Amino acid sequence: MERSLGIFGVALTLVLGWTLWDASQQEWERYQEAYYREAVRLAQKGSQKEWARNLRTEIRQLQLNGHTSVERCVTCHLGYNNPAFQNFAAPLRTHSALLKSHPEERFGCVACHGGEGRAVTTLEAHGQGAVAAKPLLRGKYMQAACYNCHGANTLPPEATAAVVRGTQLVNSYFCLACHKIDGEGGEEGPDLSRVGSHRTWTWIYAHTVRPQGVVAGSTMPVFSLSREEIEDITIYLMTLLDNRDRLRYLPLLAKRVVREPPAGAPAPSQQRAVESRVEFRYDGQKLFGGAGCNICHTVDITGGEVGPALTYIARKRNAENLERLLKDPDDILPGGKMPQLYLNELQVRALVGYLSALR
Ligand code: HEC
Ligand code: HEC
Ligand code: HEC
Ligand code: HEC
Ligand code: HEC
Repeated sequence: MERSLGIFGVALTLVLGWTLWDASQQEWERYQEAYYREAVRLAQKGSQKEWARNLRTEIRQLQLNGHTSVERCVTCHLGYNNPAFQNFAAPLRTHSALLKSHPEERFGCVACHGGEGRAVTTLEAHGQGAVAAKPLLRGKYMQAACYNCHGANTLPPEATAAVVRGTQLVNSYFCLACHKIDGEGGEEGPDLSRVGSHRTWTWIYAHTVRPQGVVAGSTMPVFSLSREEIEDITIYLMTLLDNRDRLRYLPLLAKRVVREPPAGAPAPSQQRAVESRVEFRYDGQKLFGGAGCNICHTVDITGGEVGPALTYIARKRNAENLERLLKDPDDILPGGKMPQLYLNELQVRALVGYLSALR
């Protein structure tokens, strides 16, 4: 009896100890361990194995702009320059060929992707951890970043087409009747010359759909715009930067005209090896705030009033319908104004879990 109690005690201590150790391990440490393990496994030559074995678990960072700014994305995105990681899921996956022309030690990651360079948790680094954080620019919204350095004339037109259309829309809807941009325009609304540095793209999008839904009592008119027009206006406004951001890109402005279309990401593959070994889950409720859903939707009594309240959404839509809606709003709400937020599988799953409990 005593003996089995003793064994039980030892086992309990081991389990508890392991749980504590596991919880104390930082998220980024798990990605690094997975990366090192896989790097050793994939190494072809002895020297590569040796290199992989000698990698240390540590915060990694890029020092940019003569060391005045620091980006730690590569603490988790470790395989970006290792061609052996083409078949892995993010964060370990090899980057597309764009890093050859924009080497990370000069350009970093944030200039193209947005996000919070100093952070070392996924939620914070991707700008989904706090209200004022800069969310990643995804999909079409990355055009704003390309435009910041390339303007409209050094890349093939399709690479910055949304920015050009956005500029035209701002002219054709006479936004400058009330707003100044670079010294020109009216004074009824605030100066927009720096709005891209001061607001997130989700906020600008929401405000363009229905200003009163985010700024109570706003006198800005509601324009009847299509989803694509709202996207293009938002992408253009994201190119209007303050002096600090402009100066940051000044040494990196592109001059040469590029005729080749930009190189795409490595071909997607079915292999999800590392993703499934490093467990990562989003908390649906947190993500609802972090991904900006609450800028437009109320749950109970908090949130914006750009889209419908979601307090009882599970009575109206089942999980499958919600999943389709979040992956592609146009699929379920064609012609609607719900934005494409470029959510990935993990994020959709977490949000559907959260929304399905709202009944
Ligand atoms: C703590 C680790 C961590 C840090 C730091 C981090 N990421 Fe990530 N990143 C991840 C993980 C995990 C994924 C895959 C899961 C996901 O996409 O949500 C990912 C995915 C991505 C994706 C693909 C998104 C998608 O929807 O498929 C991009 C782009 C990205 N990260 C950019 C960045 C940038 C830029 C930074 C720095 C500002 C950064 N990450 C910092 C962990 C991190
Ligand atoms: C010159 C601009 C540029 C720079 C600099 C850049 N990226 Fe990217 N990145 C892109 C583009 C464009 C894509 C493709 C996005 C898409 O599919 O819409 C991409 C894709 C990604 C993805 C998603 C890949 C996937 O799984 O589909 C991740 C993760 C990522 N980048 C991380 C980084 C990190 C980390 C850095 C810094 C080391 C970085 N990027 C630097 C432009 C850039
Ligand atoms: C921080 C500034 C910056 C950003 C952001 C940026 N670029 Fe560039 N890009 C450059 C510079 C500088 C060059 C080198 C050519 C030059 O000096 O004119 C370049 C070169 C290129 C080239 C030519 C590559 C080659 O091999 O000839 C392509 C294509 C390109 N960029 C596409 C993009 C795309 C697409 C984006 C947005 C996802 C982007 N760039 C974002 C600054 C930038
Ligand atoms: C009749 C005048 C009027 C017109 C026309 C107008 N706005 Fe506004 N706008 C305002 C006023 C007033 C505010 C301040 C209240 C608010 O934030 O909603 C404002 C605020 C904004 C803001 C928020 C700026 C910030 O940083 O807080 C943006 C972005 C904006 N407008 C974009 C536009 C765009 C894009 C158009 C054209 C499609 C436009 N506006 C047309 C009056 C106008
Ligand atoms: C920029 C504002 C905006 C943001 C951000 C936004 N939505 Fe929406 N959403 C809308 C609008 C507007 C509608 C109304 C549908 C339409 O326009 O057709 C809508 C519709 C919906 C619906 C269907 C509601 C119903 O009554 O049938 C759901 C569910 C939803 N959104 C969930 C989300 C989630 C989850 C997020 C965050 C990932 C999100 N939304 C982010 C604007 C937004």
